[in-house]
Amino acid sequence: MTNLRSANASEIRFVHARRVWDSRGRPTVEAEVRTHGGALGRAIVPAGASRGTREALERRDGGGRLGGLDVHGAVAAVNGEIAQAVMGLPADDQAALDERLIELDGTPNKARLGANATLAVSMAAAHAAAAVQGMPLYQYLGGPAATLLPLPQVQVFGGGAHAGRRTDVQDFMVVCPAATSFAQAMEWTAEVYRQAGLLMQSRGATFGVADEGGWWPVFNSNEQAIESLVQAIERAHLVPGEQAAIALDVAASEFGKAGRYTLALERRELDSDGMVELLARWVEKYPIVSVEDPLAEDDPEAFAHFTRAVGRKLQVVGDDLLVSSATLLRQAATVGAANTVLLKPNQRGTLTETQACWQAARQAGYAGIVSARSGESEDTTIVHLAIGWGVGQLKVGSFARGERMAKWNEALRIEERLGARARFAGAAVLGRNPPAR
Ligand code: PGA
Ligand code: ZN
Repeated sequence: MTNLRSANASEIRFVHARRVWDSRGRPTVEAEVRTHGGALGRAIVPAGASRGTREALERRDGGGRLGGLDVHGAVAAVNGEIAQAVMGLPADDQAALDERLIELDGTPNKARLGANATLAVSMAAAHAAAAVQGMPLYQYLGGPAATLLPLPQVQVFGGGAHAGRRTDVQDFMVVCPAATSFAQAMEWTAEVYRQAGLLMQSRGATFGVADEGGWWPVFNSNEQAIESLVQAIERAHLVPGEQAAIALDVAASEFGKAGRYTLALERRELDSDGMVELLARWVEKYPIVSVEDPLAEDDPEAFAHFTRAVGRKLQVVGDDLLVSSATLLRQAATVGAANTVLLKPNQRGTLTETQACWQAARQAGYAGIVSARSGESEDTTIVHLAIGWGVGQLKVGSFARGERMAKWNEALRIEERLGARARFAGAAVLGRNPPAR
């Protein structure tokens, strides 16, 4: 009887999408799902700028208005076909709901309905299901075992596609593996970010921030940005490589194709071996603990070569290479490319498929990082996924701008709520599966 009543309470009764605006001032999709019992879930989808070619398709209207980026088609898909198809399904059966969305779309990459349409509903339904139980989403997803606070990767300088390609490398990030709590990692990060800003100011190089809130990168070389980050760590009175270390997202697909890599800032072109050598040198010379997309998505052999060369001591992250796909992850594991997967739900278009990639990663012995996109909003779903799924790491951009801080602050609230049960994922998660729950 109790079961019957609760199944009824979680039945989807109402689905509605609207167009809202993201952190770049571009249109995006927000969806609401309401259940029979009156519980409401709401979610906003993000958008990337340096995307992998094998990501699920983000549906945009095209044409001349708003740069072709409007989302009326995706919004209409939610309010029409999708609403009809999911009406009456239990919001708490995520797998069945997402399966319905995948079937309804009928393409391998959400090309018909749009991954922005399907993901908005997939995430809003999860929020609604959590609300039916009166629980925060992380707890609904992970139960009492969801106590692992992620190690944050926080951008200090933003380059690449997020800063008019002022540097070739996209993200120069800080991680604080020796912090003993998420709150302490935030405090250390705040000081490093502040010191980096003062450093830029003292050089007369303060030009605001890039897309994800990192300082605008005025540097003569990619290496100068790394050196500046080391200095900022020192000026924050932290020990580089121990208390605070460096993570890079090279995002090499943005400047590398068919084994040729054009480092525009340094006016030179490297082949795959040259890239591997350059990065191996940086890793040797600087306190770097994580490198994302060191090689391009079309260069899996060099990716594997780099992983073999440095992967024992370094976290090697696949973003464009793996696009949160369980299938691509298994393929990469057979050749030994990367040892860590970046998980971005909008690369797949449903929570179930994103979680399947994380499960495949765990089986293959890969670590994971839940990640935001460069186009974001106040939505904090990914924080709950990182904790609810026990992933162990979180990347949401820099330490400025509301759409970034909304996520860091949400993790702080969860850490406080967990109290003595909270465990902080320190150095143990870098390049490795998180500790058993
Ligand atoms: P994007 O990039 O969100 O702009 O695609 C973020 C990343 O490469 O990690
Ligand atoms: Zn990336």
